[in-house]
Amino acid sequence: MSDSTSYYDLIGGDAGVRALAERFYRQMDEDPSCARIRHLHPADLNHSRDKLYLFLSGWLGGPPLYVEQYGHPMLRRRHLPFPIGSDERDQWMRCMVAALADSGLDEAARQHLVGSFFNTADFMRNREDPR
Ligand code: HEM
Repeated sequence: MSDSTSYYDLIGGDAGVRALAERFYRQMDEDPSCARIRHLHPADLNHSRDKLYLFLSGWLGGPPLYVEQYGHPMLRRRHLPFPIGSDERDQWMRCMVAALADSGLDEAARQHLVGSFFNTADFMRNREDPR
C-alpha cells in the first residue's frame, strides 16, 4: 500500500466503513459462539453499531467522526464496566474477522487490520482468565 492510501479509502470510504460495522454486529447477533459478548450489549444494537462506525472512520484513517461528536474515545476506560477476558476478546475478533472477510480488501490489507484489531481488543482485557 502506498503511504497516501488509507485503509479508510481501501475499504470503500464512508459506505465501506458503515458496511463493516453493520456486518460486524450482524455476525455478533447471529453467531451463537459470540453469545457471551452479544449479551454484554443492549437488545437493540443500532446505537452500538453507529458508535463503532463513527469510531472506525477515524481509526482507519478517515474523518474522526467519533472524536468530533463524543471527544476522546478512552476505549479501555469505556470498556471497564464489561468483563473482558481472552474469551470475550476472541469472540469480538471472530465477528471482526467475519466482517473483514466480505470487505473486498486484499489478503495483505486484511491481515494487517486483523493484527491491529487484535492488539486493540487485547488491550481491552480487564479480567483474569479463569484457570
Ligand atoms: C475485546 C472485546 C470487546 C468487547 C467484549 C466489547 C464490548 C463492548 C460493549 C458491551 C460496548 C457497549 C455498547 C453500547 O453501549 O451500546 C462497547 C462499546 C464500544 N466498543 Fe467495544 N468491545 C470490545 C472490543 C472493542 C474494540 C477492539 C474496539 C475498537 C477497535 C471497540 C470499540 C467500541 C466503541 C467505539 C464503543 C462505543 C463506546 C461509547 O460508548 O462511546 N470495542 N464495546
